[in-house]
Amino acid sequence: MRSNLDPDDWSAMRVQGRRMLDDMFDHLQGLRGEPLWRAPPAAVRQGFREPLPQAPADLAQVHQLFMETIRPYSSGNAHPGFMGWVQGGGTVVGMLAEMLAAGLNANLGGRDHAPLEVEQQVVAWTRELLGFPNGATGLFLTGASQANFVATLVARTRALGTYVRSHGLAGGGTTLTAYASQAVHGCVGRALDMAGIGGNQLRRIPVDSGHRIQVPALRAAIDADRAAGNSPFMIVGTAGTVDVGAIDDLMALADLAQETGIHFHVDGALGALAVLAPSLAPRLAGIERADSIALDWHKWGQAPYDAGFLLVRDGELHRRAFVDDAQYLRRAKQGLAAGEWWPCDYGPDLSRSFRALKVWFSLKTYGAAALGAVIEHTCALARDLAAQVAAEPRLELLAPVSLNIVCFRHRAADPERLNSDIVEILHRGGGVAPSLTRLDGRVAIRAAIVNHRTESRDIEALVAGVLAAGRHLEGERPA
Ligand SMILES: Cc1ncc(COP(=O)(O)O)c(C=O)c1O
Repeated sequence: MRSNLDPDDWSAMRVQGRRMLDDMFDHLQGLRGEPLWRAPPAAVRQGFREPLPQAPADLAQVHQLFMETIRPYSSGNAHPGFMGWVQGGGTVVGMLAEMLAAGLNANLGGRDHAPLEVEQQVVAWTRELLGFPNGATGLFLTGASQANFVATLVARTRALGTYVRSHGLAGGGTTLTAYASQAVHGCVGRALDMAGIGGNQLRRIPVDSGHRIQVPALRAAIDADRAAGNSPFMIVGTAGTVDVGAIDDLMALADLAQETGIHFHVDGALGALAVLAPSLAPRLAGIERADSIALDWHKWGQAPYDAGFLLVRDGELHRRAFVDDAQYLRRAKQGLAAGEWWPCDYGPDLSRSFRALKVWFSLKTYGAAALGAVIEHTCALARDLAAQVAAEPRLELLAPVSLNIVCFRHRAADPERLNSDIVEILHRGGGVAPSLTRLDGRVAIRAAIVNHRTESRDIEALVAGVLAAGRHLEGERPA
């Protein structure tokens, strides 16, 4: 049995590798001509129930299997017609950078090597974009769910000191409470749950007609908690709510956080990168005063999954929330075990992939202005969609369009059923894919335009598709 997994025949491997790369270029070049989504047939699913392979197989054959049973049945978010949830489309440059990163196979937990310099470079660029000072720290994580969780742990350490790390919350003798709007993403409550604080300690503050947190109600909730002997420790502002893309009044939240001495965190998963777009950046005023920001390069930043990111203003606090003195991670003055910045001191992960490379490549090759232009374009498409909905008597807009998300529905006697069925028909059709949500108890078709490949014709196809499916379901004509 061989013990080295490198190829015996490197020349043949190069040929096979180029074929695989070419297939992915073909895939990306031909996205528009293919269905966005196809359900994996039963036989394909069955193919993934085989016993553990013991014997080797030819790479070309396994690649063929990928081409036939995986590539055609993937999740569709790279397709220009994908508008569901909040998902980025990825780029060719990002794909190539991922290949290089996998080839290097660097472990970015720590030590002294250039990949960590690259991550630090992206941290510095993100600091610059968001107006954070030099001492601010940052790191890549899987996604904003993790970044919000890590920020919660940082804020918890700020409130209770490092004592909480060894003794837990019971040692603090108080109940920590956090605040966000009713429109907050579910991962923030889960972050409190995972931090041992408890999801119910997230106070969900009412929103105004623009889906922004009501600051007077927030102030009252903080006062009430303090009066009850609780310890308010974190205010979470949202820059781009998941349902409608609303941006809280971040300046007012920064003022209140400063006045009350509470950690001000911004969940910018969806919207923080709007700072790349000159026409949108002013809408985020106040974000530069946050104590921490979670964001996603894999959404509007177009990096392939995954590329979540956290920025923390007080780098020393960030370090204190995670640093340990494990002997097997001792630092040297020189050599491979040297280096001042070890990301394992700033988050839960020890082994980490080289996520920074795809963002570094994207910013270097496309430039920040091009990414900003994509963001602006997706918002322009959202405004066009809203205008088309407003002009069509059979459709109804359900929320103001703040950024790149449009929530609307087909009018009907039973809108719940009709709109859910419309979205299913669209998904099965494979041309456009919005998702569903619920706003003020009403079902909504939700189009989040995130992908740089989406064009006006996709917006028109969405409107036409919704109307055709509506006619079909109401028995007028086939969809
Ligand atoms: C506002 C908001 N916060 C957090 C998240 C979670 O981000 P991720 O999926 O990268 O973990 C999302 C995802 O859509 C989001 O829209």
